[in-house]
Amino acid sequence: MNISIIGSGYVGLVTGVCLSDAGHTVMCLDKDKGKIAKLNNGEIPIFEPGLGSLIQKNIGKKNLFFSSEIKSSLKESKVIFIAVGTPTSPDSDHADLSQIYSCAEEISNNLQDDCTIIIKSTVPVGTCDKVEEIISSKNSNKNFDVVSNPEFLREGSAINDFENPDRIIVGTTNKKSIDLIKDIYKRQIDKKYPIIFTSRKSSELIKYAGNSMLAMRIIFINEIADLCEKVGADVGDIAHGIGLDKRIGPHFLSAGPGFGGSCFPKDARALIESGKEYKAPQNLLKAVVDGNERRKSNLADRIINIVGAKKRVGILGVTFKANTDDMREAPSLSIIPKLLDNGISVSIYDPEAGQQEIEEFYGAEWKSDPYSVAENSDCLVILTEWDEFKELDLKKIKDIMSQPIIVDFRNIFSLNKMKDLNFEYHSVGRCTINTK
Ligand SMILES: NC(=O)c1ccc[n+]([C@@H]2O[C@H](COP(=O)([O-])OP(=O)(O)OC[C@H]3O[C@@H](n4cnc5c(N)ncnc54)[C@H](O)[C@@H]3O)[C@@H](O)[C@H]2O)c1
Repeated sequence: MNISIIGSGYVGLVTGVCLSDAGHTVMCLDKDKGKIAKLNNGEIPIFEPGLGSLIQKNIGKKNLFFSSEIKSSLKESKVIFIAVGTPTSPDSDHADLSQIYSCAEEISNNLQDDCTIIIKSTVPVGTCDKVEEIISSKNSNKNFDVVSNPEFLREGSAINDFENPDRIIVGTTNKKSIDLIKDIYKRQIDKKYPIIFTSRKSSELIKYAGNSMLAMRIIFINEIADLCEKVGADVGDIAHGIGLDKRIGPHFLSAGPGFGGSCFPKDARALIESGKEYKAPQNLLKAVVDGNERRKSNLADRIINIVGAKKRVGILGVTFKANTDDMREAPSLSIIPKLLDNGISVSIYDPEAGQQEIEEFYGAEWKSDPYSVAENSDCLVILTEWDEFKELDLKKIKDIMSQPIIVDFRNIFSLNKMKDLNFEYHSVGRCTINTK
């Protein structure tokens, strides 16, 4: 099948590459000419494990193409995915749908008869209806269908998640679209992964409800972690103990610095706004979002209390989680500026974050390895759980630091190990190891 994808970011690119690998002929489109030029030169614009080799393989098989000639591509497309961004609006907590609506206008001006438009971006309930209205306003004489098909991949394991999904959600009642979607996802259906057909509105809401539920679990376990620290309990044992209850399950119960990334924060805010719009307040989610903001701010205070002002702090990891270069709404973006404002000198190492011009970190020093960050620092802070940090030579680290203090917001080291090495060690929801 010939497929066009508008938006070649984390979702559009992975979707395009995986569908081309399944044998479809895919044209990945993006208005960012620089990104398309890189892709056409064999460069991968994002860090995603396994993506580069899969791109090369399918370019070689002539299944995969990249272009910024959107108009001419759409004129020849009968199957169009939309995978553009839906960030929070600059002036409210609503999702900013301008990228979606500009795609709808572009499609509307270049529509082929019998076209299926599949919205993969995360969009608030009712958006597919609006896209349909925009397209039909100029195309009353043509057949087309707008389908909701939200994406659930996680950065860092995106290819595996796309190929082996927990489920595929599709919002359409149109028989032709249902058959088409089954053809697109034949590989996943053959492997017996569940595919759920529902209404467009239910499909749109499933995505938001899923992300909001996960965000809620993170905030819940973080608040339990706060209590553990006060009473001398261990949050890891609590998570294990409750996670064995089949009604709860073990996932998303890791205490840490709070949630960030390009999805949870903006999707939680957007669902709260949908609740307001339809007079169905999402009070629980509001508490989750507020709790997350408070947590990020408290973490900076915690570092300052431990190390004191005007000291040297080394930061390991600034992306919102490991195995991605994505900095969107990373906890580091609120923690590091507060440290800098308090006169703390900050040095940073991250294996993938390449945006050394990040304005929030202006004044911090970027280093090319974790040991250079540790050298002469009064405190080492672990913000992201990269495997590389778990393998650090801690004896060496201790020798080169000014004082052996580690603040680990990802609980990557065991308490016994840190006690043996005689570090002052602060982690989340566990007792503090103090050398004094
Ligand atoms: N990143 C994730 O892990 C993830 C997971 C699931 C769902 N989602 C959702 O998928 C959507 C896309 O997210 P992303 O992280 O891939 O975004 P992204 O910002 O990485 O990519 C979006 C791309 O769309 C391009 N674009 C914007 N408007 C365009 C237009 N009119 N024509 C052509 N190209 C255009 C941009 O240049 C950009 O390259 C969002 O709604 C997001 O919430 C993201």
